[in-house]
Amino acid sequence: MCGIVGYLGFQDPKKIIVDGLKKLEYRGYDSAGIAVMNDGKIKTVRAEGKIKFLEDKLGQEHFNGHLGIGHTRWATHGAPSERNAHPHRVGDISLVHNGIIENYLEIKKGLLARGAIIKSDTDSELVAHLVNEEILRTNNLFEAVQKTLSKLVGAFSIVVIWEKSPDELVAFKDGPPLIVGLGEKENFIVSDVQAALQYTKNFVYLEDREIVHIKNKEVRYFSADGKPIEKKVNHLDWTTELTEKMGFKHYMLKEIYEQPRAVAAAIGPHLNPETHEVEIKNLGFKKTSKEVFSGIDQILFVACGTSYYAAMVGKYLIEQNARIPVEVDIASEFRYRKPIIKKNTLVITISQSGETADTLAAIRLAKEHGAITLSITNVQKSSIDREADGHLYMSSGVEVGVASTKAFTSTLALLNVLALEIAKARSVLSKEDEIEGVKNLLAVPSQLEAVLSFDKYFSEAAQKLKDFKGFLYLGRGVNYPIALEGALKLKELAYLHAEGYAAGEMKHGPLALIDSRMAIVVVAPTDDLIEKTVSNLQEAKARGGKIISIGTGENEALKSMSEYYLSLPSASWMTNPLIATVPLQLMAYHLADNLGLDVDQPRNLAKSVTVE
Ligand code: F6R
Repeated sequence: MCGIVGYLGFQDPKKIIVDGLKKLEYRGYDSAGIAVMNDGKIKTVRAEGKIKFLEDKLGQEHFNGHLGIGHTRWATHGAPSERNAHPHRVGDISLVHNGIIENYLEIKKGLLARGAIIKSDTDSELVAHLVNEEILRTNNLFEAVQKTLSKLVGAFSIVVIWEKSPDELVAFKDGPPLIVGLGEKENFIVSDVQAALQYTKNFVYLEDREIVHIKNKEVRYFSADGKPIEKKVNHLDWTTELTEKMGFKHYMLKEIYEQPRAVAAAIGPHLNPETHEVEIKNLGFKKTSKEVFSGIDQILFVACGTSYYAAMVGKYLIEQNARIPVEVDIASEFRYRKPIIKKNTLVITISQSGETADTLAAIRLAKEHGAITLSITNVQKSSIDREADGHLYMSSGVEVGVASTKAFTSTLALLNVLALEIAKARSVLSKEDEIEGVKNLLAVPSQLEAVLSFDKYFSEAAQKLKDFKGFLYLGRGVNYPIALEGALKLKELAYLHAEGYAAGEMKHGPLALIDSRMAIVVVAPTDDLIEKTVSNLQEAKARGGKIISIGTGENEALKSMSEYYLSLPSASWMTNPLIATVPLQLMAYHLADNLGLDVDQPRNLAKSVTVE
């Protein structure tokens, strides 16, 4: 949450910083601002709301310096307003901050007692005061920042500039990501490589409690106690086209349509299309994956939001194939409930961004308990990826839309692969089942294409949904988490109240909600549970509920009881969740778009949740 860009180089800092912030807007869009050197002074421009309002304010404004910082905010302390927007200025110091300062009350008390005048409601401004106090003593930006770091408790990444030193920038982090981009005669500090990718492919990832000091063209790294350290430069061969809309109305729509390709990219490296064998190569464990997977007694998934629902699907897939107990935990609960992690537990974290604060804390906790850890992320070298013993990549390409789509289906595909691989390592997968499993998976990209070609029907179904007062999304078995995901998509995009339920739970409470203004969206493929699901739906229909069903082929029984019936191609029980997700994503998308809502950046949300 919050995006940071710092720049020191020969180009126009205003352009570089504003362009970079646009790439980071997914991290927060409550306010934005820049502070850039101009005629030996720092000039600050800030605006409430999205970056376009900052751009309007900046207009033809020109800056002749080469140093600047910028910020796009997801509000934590203090309402979204210009007063609370970053950069914050105190004395000659300007600063941007991502994260939370937990000891802010204590810091504030001390500052007020020392006569400080605090202008905003943010914890960030307090840090600027602390740096300012130090710089008045030391007259040295690096020392002032280093001394300040030791006074802060919480999760933060911070970049500081000083009016008296127009060629210098100091940054540090303890929690949210901060990455140094190394260019030719110019350097960048960003929350995500995307913000500097068009200028450089060489990046240095700061670890917690590390400081970077950029002065003129020199970049040096230090530990929190001020000792110089060496850092590895990572060369990324990503392209910037990945972050364009490519003619689609929204990033989210583009990303939904990219799913066939994204899923193919996720499974491709692990499946042999000739022999139909599964083999995950280079997981990165010290032992072979066979040794790891055959030596564990249980698996524990930890994740948040959509990634948590993917993990729930993983439980069904792995338990049924590999016959090993699997638990699934919400990361924010897991980290605080003193979990019992038995010996020989494999902890698998799922995180698109690889930066979710709770998931990161969970993997660290799991390691402290001696668990073997495996991360499934989309962003290589992200904090969670770097923390894990073993690594699997969604390979979905950059996901810009705040609501996760292609990363979810790519993860489901990877979990299919993982279930087969673990079962094989534990010698409980027959050759026939392996071949069938691989064939089914290889068929998914073209099945997804087929489902996408029905978009017009999903758009029509969305029209039907718009007048209902509430929504119940139902599913059973491996499709139950898909119902949860469908409800989440509707909530976050269309701001409508939706709940996901296991269809069999209806008569234990939710049935009381049913009347003619309640829509029931059901994922009901023709599988072992279809008859039970149809019975559950009869009970809802008898009470006036209106049913929108997603079934397999021409399921007459389901069709006859539905207001709207959406037909999907036949798929295996393991891969059906992938294709059933697409209509739910598209219905939520169209409904929100018809309501004129901001589909790519829903209110109050941010893509990378780096605070707990
Ligand atoms: C919903 C959504 C969120 C994320 C959650 C975890 O569409 O995107 O629920 O899934 O914030 O994020 P990651 O996967 O980056 O850890």
